[in-house]
Amino acid sequence: MINIALPKGRLGDKVYSLFSDIGYTCPELLMENRKLVFVNEQAEVRYFLVKPTDVGIYVEHGAADIGVVGKDILLEGEPDVYELLDLKLGRCRFAVAAREGYKEDPSLPLRVATKYPNVARKYYAGLNREISIIKLHGSMELAPLSGLSDVIVDIVETGSTIKENNLRVVADIAPVSARLIANKASYKFKGEEIDRITKELAKRL
Ligand code: PRP
Repeated sequence: MINIALPKGRLGDKVYSLFSDIGYTCPELLMENRKLVFVNEQAEVRYFLVKPTDVGIYVEHGAADIGVVGKDILLEGEPDVYELLDLKLGRCRFAVAAREGYKEDPSLPLRVATKYPNVARKYYAGLNREISIIKLHGSMELAPLSGLSDVIVDIVETGSTIKENNLRVVADIAPVSARLIANKASYKFKGEEIDRITKELAKRL
């Protein structure tokens, strides 16, 4: 039996269809209900539907053997797991954005609003730039517009949220997409199966 942590939502639906194509079917999973655990004894698979930001935690602690999670969440949380495959789904990027016409004053610490403090800290440490972090939980675009921060570190996908709020991208930080990850101990004991899954998924990308 292999235990798979799937992110709840649109990405999870796409990822399930990839797993189902390689034999890990569980039709019940596609039905609208509030269940979080789905088992198919014949296919020897158990799925957990997990909040996307928690997938790395389930896999790191071995509650799930493998899982699928955005690179954004891996970069922020740095779970101790193996990253096996880029599934090339949910593509977007981490970027820095500021108000149109904003001019940075290098003599002051930069005020950075973000949901991703670890990513922001690492990025600016690499530039030797002093910053102060303002941790937010969403709608970060509002921070530079209201004067709460100088810039934001956020996910940009189509760029329309940035544009509609009169912001512009001033730097790209890192590309983001969904990744297949594995628990380190599971990889030791179920390595053959996990390698096979990785190979089969890679063929379908
Ligand atoms: C994300 C991100 C941006 C938006 C970018 O927000 O924080 O706001 O998507 O997408 P775009 O470039 O295609 O416009 P999300 O919808 O996850 O909600 P949030 O504001 O709560 O983070």
